[in-house]
Amino acid sequence: MNFDYSRSLFSRAEKVLPKGVNSPVRYYEPHPFFVSSGIGSKIITQDHQTLIDYCLGYGALILGHSYKGVMGRIKEQLDRGSLFCIPTEKEVQLAEVLSKIVPCCEMARIVNTGSEATMHAIRLARAYTQKKTIVKFDGSYHGAYDEVLVKAGSGATLSTSGESMPESRNTEVLPFNNIEILKEKIEDEKKGEDVACIIMEPICANVGVILPETNFLYEIRKLTKKHNIVLIFDEVITGFRLALGGASEFFGIKPDIATFAKALGNGFPISAICGKKEIMSQLAPSGSVYQASTYAGNPVSVTASLATIDTLIEAKNTLYPKLGKNCDRIVDAIKDFIKEKGIDATVNAIGSMYQIFFSKNKVVNYQDALKSDLDMFKKLYFELLKKDIFIPPSQFETCFLSFSHTEEDVDKTIDAYGEAISILKK
Ligand SMILES: Cc1ncc(COP(=O)(O)O)c(C=O)c1O
Repeated sequence: MNFDYSRSLFSRAEKVLPKGVNSPVRYYEPHPFFVSSGIGSKIITQDHQTLIDYCLGYGALILGHSYKGVMGRIKEQLDRGSLFCIPTEKEVQLAEVLSKIVPCCEMARIVNTGSEATMHAIRLARAYTQKKTIVKFDGSYHGAYDEVLVKAGSGATLSTSGESMPESRNTEVLPFNNIEILKEKIEDEKKGEDVACIIMEPICANVGVILPETNFLYEIRKLTKKHNIVLIFDEVITGFRLALGGASEFFGIKPDIATFAKALGNGFPISAICGKKEIMSQLAPSGSVYQASTYAGNPVSVTASLATIDTLIEAKNTLYPKLGKNCDRIVDAIKDFIKEKGIDATVNAIGSMYQIFFSKNKVVNYQDALKSDLDMFKKLYFELLKKDIFIPPSQFETCFLSFSHTEEDVDKTIDAYGEAISILKK
């Protein structure tokens, strides 16, 4: 595999961008490859290699790259303007459709990134409860700001920068999938009475994939209701991916607020805070919780979102089963290869998301994920890359499938995993 041109680009990049990238997880040793375009399930590198993409903008491209139904509508919008900062009809349409398909959505505010959405969701929860403490789970990632960077997953797994920040003093971090520890914390009069919100990924997807154990979400919902704590589902990854109505629809648990990004725009920067009217209407100008943004509800991203959601609604009955079937085929094959070769590894998966952990034990929380063999993962990454398969270059991320992935892509991917895993064994 020849990445000569990428190497030369990286040496230019390193001089003008910290470690040559604009987001930490994009860097890996010795250097990342550079990409020039994407179409359907594939990306084309600057070195003219075609790779099947299982990173998909870290889950954003649920329909695939350059999806015609989205790009066509974007092109029409571009001829009409890109930013007004004046209300548009499309923003109303988007909020209307969100309130139909997102279980907790009585009102929405459209913003730009996942970080922005979770940050304002927390601010809303604090204003609503008049309490200060945030509870999050270790290994979960809600964005790159101080209050939630404590013991965060994704690229922050190896960084501790958020933990020393004064803002993080009001953040309590608890282990995922341990309802007893959570109960102790919440029900302790001194420690629990100041909890404003629990913010959580219903499925941890920033430390690989970690599923909630039976009743975990249900028990959290019960506890939060009892103690006047706002439950925030951070559905930046699971939203529109696990089901049209996200993890909330999938698991049948309705939070007070849910945040969306990624698949909401199929690759365009857009996010949404959705929730109960009495909480959402605290937002300025109807209430006193200030939130503002020049690019919020910009017509290009809103058009991308409307086109994406229209496609998801239309194709719902074929799209989700197709995503699930293709993912299951890959996951079942990986499990068989692991067994055949006697490798210590486990695979976690749900819907169109999966990850392999090189660990003997089940992975049910962040501490389990940290015990997996990172060198083995690195070898797997490079072996797959040699076979034209691109997965996120980190153990602490998730592999995703899109509607554009074909059975042929899946066959090729299975063959690549088979060969890669047999080499790992040696
Ligand atoms: C669950 C979750 N929440 C929030 C974010 C932050 O989103 P953004 O990178 O758009 O700010 C991410 C990003 O990966 C995420 O996975």
